[in-house]
Amino acid sequence: MGKASQTASIPDGYDAPEFWDLAFSDETIPEADFIEAVLQKFGPTSLPDSRPKSSSPARILEIACGGGRQVIELAIRGHHVTAFDLNERCIEYVTQRLRRKKLDADLFIGDMTSFRVKEQFDLAHCLVNSFRHLISEADAVAHLNCVTSALKPGGLYLLGLHLLPPDAAEDDCERWTIHSGKTRVTTTIRVLDFNRRTRIETVRFSLKVTRPTGVLRFQADHRLRIYRADQMRSLLKKVPELELIGVYDFNYDLEEPRKLDDELGDTVLVLKKTGRVTSAVNF
Ligand SMILES: C[S@@+](CC[C@H](N)C(=O)[O-])C[C@H]1O[C@@H](n2cnc3c(N)ncnc32)[C@H](O)[C@@H]1O
Repeated sequence: MGKASQTASIPDGYDAPEFWDLAFSDETIPEADFIEAVLQKFGPTSLPDSRPKSSSPARILEIACGGGRQVIELAIRGHHVTAFDLNERCIEYVTQRLRRKKLDADLFIGDMTSFRVKEQFDLAHCLVNSFRHLISEADAVAHLNCVTSALKPGGLYLLGLHLLPPDAAEDDCERWTIHSGKTRVTTTIRVLDFNRRTRIETVRFSLKVTRPTGVLRFQADHRLRIYRADQMRSLLKKVPELELIGVYDFNYDLEEPRKLDDELGDTVLVLKKTGRVTSAVNF
């Protein structure tokens, strides 16, 4: 992972998983519904057929789980969840959350480029751009190879990321606010530097947390890798055991498949472990 650079003495939002998690909490239910719908539509045949697949407990691996919003939601829905993150504070926080809610999941500190797991999963997922923290092709390939080893034959990998079409604006800034009880979290994501040649952009993630007790601020600059659709296709060709079987966007609607092309920004790829060593990418 490209280490984030912190600004002055402002702490990194990734070290405050409780607020980071809140910032993305609106996405949790649509993402979890999509994960279950994908399992039902494309999941490994090894899932029991006696019930609709979506309600069968699946073995799910979350990669870069952050504050654990998806770990909690999928555990509540009865799935067997394993999750990891590079950040120790995230794993501590998710452990406490599970304990408080009397839920169960397997957690560990791990790196997306080198993790190993003992069992194989029906589905793994890595949503909301975490994958773009891997800033070299070698790391991206190493990651996809780790995922392949972690999946059952027929297992699925959902990879969510923002693609940057050739004509995308380079000076992007996004801001939104989430309210939870008396806490208000405003997230600002601003592109500071953007280089098509090196395929790296530097993005400032800022959180402003307003509570009755006062205001907290978090900020860090992260280096993220840039992908166009053709660059993603070229990466996927290097891991032929994972076949691209579906392309969607952040509307998480299985009825609205997309094409992996330059029209696409927010992207969710559905990859399937085929057991084959060559495959064609048709999207
Ligand atoms: C954008 S946050 C997403 C958190 C969570 N998946 C969510 O959707 O709320 C990115 C996460 O990726 C983790 N991360 C970054 N590089 C990593 C790596 N090489 N291996 C594992 N986790 C990593 C960070 O610690 C952070 O928790």
